[in-house]
Amino acid sequence: MLFPDYRPRRLRRNESFRRMIRETSLSVDNLIYPMFVVFGKGIRRPIASMPGIFQLSIDELIQEAREILSLGIPAIMLFGIPDKKDKKATGAYDSDGIIQRAMKGLKDKIPELMVIGDVCLCEYMSHGHCGIVQGNDVDNDATLELLARTALSQAKAGADMVAPSDMMDGRVAEIRQALDENGFEQTPIMAYSAKYASAFYGPFREAAESAPKFGDRKSYQMDPANIREAIREVTLDVEEGADIIMVKPALPYLDVICRVREEFDLPVAAYNVSGEYAMIKAAAKQGWLDENKVMMESLLSIRRAGADLILTYFAKQAAALLKAA
Ligand code: PBG
Repeated sequence: MLFPDYRPRRLRRNESFRRMIRETSLSVDNLIYPMFVVFGKGIRRPIASMPGIFQLSIDELIQEAREILSLGIPAIMLFGIPDKKDKKATGAYDSDGIIQRAMKGLKDKIPELMVIGDVCLCEYMSHGHCGIVQGNDVDNDATLELLARTALSQAKAGADMVAPSDMMDGRVAEIRQALDENGFEQTPIMAYSAKYASAFYGPFREAAESAPKFGDRKSYQMDPANIREAIREVTLDVEEGADIIMVKPALPYLDVICRVREEFDLPVAAYNVSGEYAMIKAAAKQGWLDENKVMMESLLSIRRAGADLILTYFAKQAAALLKAA
């Protein structure tokens, strides 16, 4: 069918038609809000490169979690910032560590809100890498046990789901086994499966105080040039027992989200990372972009590419807009 028999504009003539034929939607159900927790009381420390996002002490975190629940957001993703860092990431799997304490507090006060634990060691390592460092390299197999310990300690503290973001080979299987052996066979794993070595994580590393002190993460995170490799990474995680597979970052990697959606039938998550957030915030502050419109268009695009779930620092702002609509 060709013009003039077919006129695509016929169904764009008014909002009712547009609404009726809309292919993709964004719902609050799709959103996960990442949060940063620190030791102390009454702390609400702004992160310069992420306006509206704070490092929160547990009391403040719980207060904000109530607001998140009332906005209808189903889940938060928790990142812990410890007091002390070392070469074994002791704080990551300490039963009384920052993230474990925060999880206990949250599940005690607001059990309805799903709490997902980011399982990684970089925030807890003095060198800022995601695993045990030997010489100049991150030792994959020595790291696995610590990751499994971290995931298990989070499950014990009440985590509703664990999300390994380290990109070590074999970690999903190791974590699945540790959970199953300890009675947490019902705790799902959301794997950061195709996680790229991206410069878009810059602001996050300020928020989580997790920038590597030497080198970079290119020996474990993926090369931004690769998409076939993403399929291999996701395949491994699925075979090892992942329940949800994630692509990260989101906007510069919509093609990867799309391919992963086509090739796998598990739920797909996408992480709209700190740099993606910072860019929109910065342009809006200059008056160069309409912040709300660009935010909603970005989130919808991630859904259109095929993501079921979106981890985004915009979750509260988007949820409030969806509620008002
Ligand atoms: C930890 C981790 C990072 C992010 C999530 N988990 C940073 C990194 O890998 O360096 C980035 C999230 C963001 O930029 O919003 N490994």
